[in-house]
Order: sequence, then C-alpha cells, then structure tokens
Amino acid sequence: MLPAQEDDSRSPMNPLRLGVLGSGKGSNFRAILEAIQEGRLDARIALVCSDVSDAGILQLARAAGLETQIIEEARFKTRLSRECEGKLVAQLRDAQVDLVVLAGYMRMLKDPMLAAFPRRIINIHPSLLPKFPGLEAWRQALAAGESITGCSVHFVDEGMDSGEIIAQARVPVLPGDSPERLHARIQEAEHQLYPEVIARFAHGELP
Ligand code: GRF
Repeated sequence: MLPAQEDDSRSPMNPLRLGVLGSGKGSNFRAILEAIQEGRLDARIALVCSDVSDAGILQLARAAGLETQIIEEARFKTRLSRECEGKLVAQLRDAQVDLVVLAGYMRMLKDPMLAAFPRRIINIHPSLLPKFPGLEAWRQALAAGESITGCSVHFVDEGMDSGEIIAQARVPVLPGDSPERLHARIQEAEHQLYPEVIARFAHGELP
C-alpha cells in the first residue's frame, strides 16, 4: 500500500490525484470534472467514493469512466465507524490520492482519515464560514436576515465545518429571495470556486 504523496511538485506527467467523496447529486464533482476536461485544472480524479449506493455522484462518475467505491455505514448517520474510515483510507491510498475533496459528503471525518491526509482534506460549504455551519446554511442566512452570504472552501478538521478557511466567494441575498433561488446561486458560486481552489493545490500554492 502506498502512502499519500507528499511531493507537491506537479507536471503534466504527474498531475494532482484527487479522491472525491460525495453523498448527493454531484454538481460540484461535475464542475471539477469539467474544469479538468476543459484544461482549467491540471488534476486527475483517481477515485470517487460515496456512502450512498444510488447517489447521483456515482452515476456521473461511472458515466465518465472513473473508478468508484461505495462504503455504506448503517451504524451511524453522521460519521463512519473507525473500521469504515480505515477502509476508506486504504482505498484512497491504493488510488494514490494526493488531495481528498469532499463534495456534498454528509459524514464527518475523524481518525484515521484526518491523520492519513493532514491538510489534504478539503470541503465546500454553502455559507461564509464561520457563519452558519451545519445543514441548509442558505436557509440559516435567510432566516438571519443577511444581505450577503456565499460559500467557503476549508480544510477539514474534527469539527463541523470548523477547519481553517482557504477561500470564500460572496453571493448577495436578493429582495424576495426564496431558499431555493438563493441556494441555486450559491451553488453556481461553488462550481466556480472549488476548481479554482483545487488548482491552487495543483500548483503547489497551498502548503
Ligand atoms: C453543496 O452545496 C456543498 O456546499 C455542500 O453539499 C452540497 C453538495 O452538492 N457541502 P452537490 O452534490 O455537489 O450538488
């Protein structure tokens, strides 16, 4: 089994290898894939892994001919057992993943994942963190009467959406916004921001 790569020097022969984890429809995954296909992101998706066997992200990944894995966890809803996390680490290492990208993955990660990929697990969240961690952050922003919200890419730590923030994009809340419309505009911003941040890892800009 190979350790996670620590060498950040990349070239067209040695692109950043991504492991994408998602539980849902996979629109951020699709944005990352499109950025790679269009030459805006010098990376390769080495593995797509889900905890939901019929998740849209898996269907998209299979349609793109990418390797997929499923690790279901019946015992817990919001995290994996240590045993399942160990399996996930092994799969990501077997795929020689350099950067773990959470794209709508609905479980919190602990050890052994955090220890296996220090500062190499990132997440995107639909608010300007540290405001509104947790579920349906766009609804929280609306309910709080915010005039600006947005999305954040951050390193993953033991907490809920609490890791160091890497980058943010702002999205104005418009008069009469519905949760759905606001969420859709935040997702557009996510689809722009996430590939840009991953490109910074690909260029070795984020130690
Ligand atoms: C995104 O809105 C992201 O902010 C949150 O989960 C959602 C995933 O959506 N963490 P998708 O599966 O990428 O469409």
